[in-house]
Amino acid sequence: MTIYDVIDRKKRGQALSDEEIRYFVQAVAGGGASDAQIAAFCMAVLLVGMSEAECFALTRAMTDSGARVPRPRAGGVFVDKHSTGGVSDSTTLVLAPVLAACGARCAKYSGRGLGHTGGTLDKLECFPGLTVSLTPAQFEAQAERVGAVVAGQTAQVVPADKRMYAVRDVTATVDSIPLIAASVMSKKLASFADVILLDVKYGEGAFVRGVEDAASLAALMVGIGRRAGRRMCASVTCMDQPLGDWVGCCAEVREAVGVLRGEVQNDLAALSLDHAARLLRLALGISAAEAERRVKGAVASGAALQKLRDMVAAQGGDARAVDDFSLLPLAPQRALIRAPRDGFVRVHALPLGQACVLLGGGRQRAGEAVDHTVALHLLRRTGSRVRAGEPLLEVFHRGGAQAALGRAAEGFSVEQMPPAAQPLIYRTIEEDT
Ligand code: URA
Repeated sequence: MTIYDVIDRKKRGQALSDEEIRYFVQAVAGGGASDAQIAAFCMAVLLVGMSEAECFALTRAMTDSGARVPRPRAGGVFVDKHSTGGVSDSTTLVLAPVLAACGARCAKYSGRGLGHTGGTLDKLECFPGLTVSLTPAQFEAQAERVGAVVAGQTAQVVPADKRMYAVRDVTATVDSIPLIAASVMSKKLASFADVILLDVKYGEGAFVRGVEDAASLAALMVGIGRRAGRRMCASVTCMDQPLGDWVGCCAEVREAVGVLRGEVQNDLAALSLDHAARLLRLALGISAAEAERRVKGAVASGAALQKLRDMVAAQGGDARAVDDFSLLPLAPQRALIRAPRDGFVRVHALPLGQACVLLGGGRQRAGEAVDHTVALHLLRRTGSRVRAGEPLLEVFHRGGAQAALGRAAEGFSVEQMPPAAQPLIYRTIEEDT
């Protein structure tokens, strides 16, 4: 068998055997496959597709390409949530402390911003002093003591995905359903969560545009997780407009804190608390109504907010920022984007995410520093009625922001007719369906 043969067979539409897939993935992780060969393989998969069995084999081989994350010794059920990426999605910052306050353990690895989408690690680093680089012993101790810990993955876990993802990123092969499924699930299976919720985004600001493609991706990933013995559920959710009303690291942390204080009631709050309740139901084996009651109780009592303080402090951060937003500053200059005419607003997540990147709030090159203070504040959401000249968006920047302001303006169209309402949650897959 050669790498050439594996690519050639896939290109001709033939199903690959487990051995062929494993051989290829080992060559990716071990350096035996060149970037050109990885690109050709990924493009063949994107164009020809993969069966569920092939995708499962690819996932397993990728998981086995590196180290496993050791399960902390703490007892109890470990839960995890994974979003396929969006704009203003800070659900993890809400969900991890809520779940810990309710007696489930949320000890998870998260990522940094990718393209126009934000990353939980970048947001967590807004807390002065907080580190996301934890040793396995620190991770384990915090999982046991606090019940909530969010850290960065080490390079030893799923090295095959790191190489394949870097090649996909520059060869227009990110948006392949089997490749996304194997990439996400190989990382989940290398970790130890017992119960996993997948939030699969569709729409203008998502990596997968079509709702039915997102639903297929969700079903495929749930199937892979179940085959590997994990308890799985999923949501297919709309990312046509940003989830919350703020885009930008410090601003999103403030908004997540607002949800935990019970002060913010928007799509971010609705989705975070819905996901927390669904995970809690599976983790504790309680009814949906009881899970919802406990989640709401953790917010109302302040227990979830206290868990966030504990989590931030345990990772070396200044937990006073939870109560003192001057420690989560916003950039000093302000600009407004106004409605060009009377009509109904339609918000577009992609240009808003890109505008945040142009302001310095995301990366244009791997490894760049992120400006946590720049922000976009949505003053109107899809469907609202405006008059010409009324403000749609407030931008917090540091000057020289013309390109970003231009892109931010593309984040809104004002139309004559109200746009068709899209449900936030299009479909869910529950454990017992
Ligand atoms: N997130 C991942 O981890 N992998 C993908 O392929 C897409 C989104």
